[in-house]
Amino acid sequence: MMPTGFFCLLLITGGSTFNYSEQPELQAQPDSNQDSDEDVVDSEGNCSYQDVLNHLKLTRSTELYSMTRPVKHHKSATQVHLQMAIYGILDVREIDQTFVLYVWIYMSWGNDHIRWNQHKFCGLKHVVVPTEALWKPDLTIEEMTEKDKAPPSPYLTVTYHGLIELRNDLMLVSTCRMQVYKFPFDIQSCNLSFKSAVYSDDEIKFAAILNASKFTEWSREVMRIQYEWLFLNVTVHEKTVNNLSFNQSMIVYTITMKRRSVLYIANFLLPIMFFLGLDLASFLISDSGGEKLGFK
Ligand SMILES: *[C@@H]1O[C@H](CO)[C@@H](O)[C@H](O)[C@H]1NC(C)=O
Ligand SMILES: *[C@@H]1O[C@H](CO)[C@@H](O)[C@H](O)[C@H]1NC(C)=O
Ligand SMILES: *[C@@H]1O[C@H](CO)[C@@H](O)[C@H](O)[C@H]1NC(C)=O
Ligand SMILES: *[C@@H]1O[C@H](CO)[C@@H](O)[C@H](O)[C@H]1NC(C)=O
Ligand SMILES: *[C@@H]1O[C@H](CO)[C@@H](O)[C@H](O)[C@H]1NC(C)=O
Ligand SMILES: *[C@@H]1O[C@H](CO)[C@@H](O)[C@H](O)[C@H]1NC(C)=O
Ligand SMILES: *[C@@H]1O[C@H](CO)[C@@H](O)[C@H](O)[C@H]1NC(C)=O
Repeated sequence: MMPTGFFCLLLITGGSTFNYSEQPELQAQPDSNQDSDEDVVDSEGNCSYQDVLNHLKLTRSTELYSMTRPVKHHKSATQVHLQMAIYGILDVREIDQTFVLYVWIYMSWGNDHIRWNQHKFCGLKHVVVPTEALWKPDLTIEEMTEKDKAPPSPYLTVTYHGLIELRNDLMLVSTCRMQVYKFPFDIQSCNLSFKSAVYSDDEIKFAAILNASKFTEWSREVMRIQYEWLFLNVTVHEKTVNNLSFNQSMIVYTITMKRRSVLYIANFLLPIMFFLGLDLASFLISDSGGEKLGFK
């Protein structure tokens, strides 16, 4: 599980599709003391991760970090960059209209309270901390019908300019309205809608990192498990919905997949055709010989 996670991280960060300095929110914040070189001289003493945490006064229970959305002004929205990767289509159950996916989720957002001068800490650029120490977006998936049983990722990555990153693996059981009348030549499209559970779009805005064509291309590379179902493509829509009397930002992924009908043809249709053929052949044998019964 971990090696594939790192692989995905490499793809996302190395593929030049995701660039920290391009994030408007992070650029907008003034970085006055960041490159003051006179501090480099006496940086010998502050080189451990704990020194950074001490500087930020970040502990497991610091209320500043864990209680509320980390913005300096309540009217500024938190921009959450989201990316999903599909590792496998584990199961598609037409009977109870659900499908089971194994996915990897990456989220990043800004934290206005976190900032340190990397030169004062021996060039330390990021620290990994337990997830409960910091506020996180309350991501939910509308179609999800079963809670994921795997424990959530225990760590967050905190970078010196206030970017927080979360990576998580999930086994998703979600509903999907399926049409089965073309069986076994059917193509199914299923939606996964990501949004916040309680925050409105003034507070949290979601943005997809990869667009549909990039995401489709990338999913074909990382997909490990495809047995009965063949992944075709995925589309991404960012939209605003209003179902709880306030507007919420949402990202809808539509996953299109095709049944490998050859499995059914080989295991199911061909044997039936064969016996049907034999049965028809039996009509050609004349009744008088008395061999028809034996043949049948
Ligand atoms: C990120 O974007 C900045 C400015 O747009 C650019 O100077 C920098 O080279 C980019 N970094 C990567 C890794 O693409
Ligand atoms: C380490 O950092 C703290 C807080 O920024 C500072 O007070 C202290 O002087 C630094 N120590 C050294 C040896 O640089
Ligand atoms: C999936 O989402 C798309 C785009 O928002 C929508 O047009 C479509 O009706 C949805 N499909 C289902 C099955 O909900
Ligand atoms: C998707 O993004 C890539 C680069 O990130 C770009 O070349 C491509 O044109 C984009 N496709 C669409 C449909 O926007
Ligand atoms: C995805 O695949 C389906 C089935 O082949 C096709 O109808 C649809 O147009 C494709 N969508 C995109 C965005 O390529
Ligand atoms: C949620 O709101 C959107 C648009 O605001 C609407 O299209 C959709 O049907 C609503 N869904 C439910 C379950 O009410
Ligand atoms: C929701 O969004 C619509 C259009 O984007 C806007 O007209 C409406 O005022 C918003 N409602 C709230 C409660 O913000």
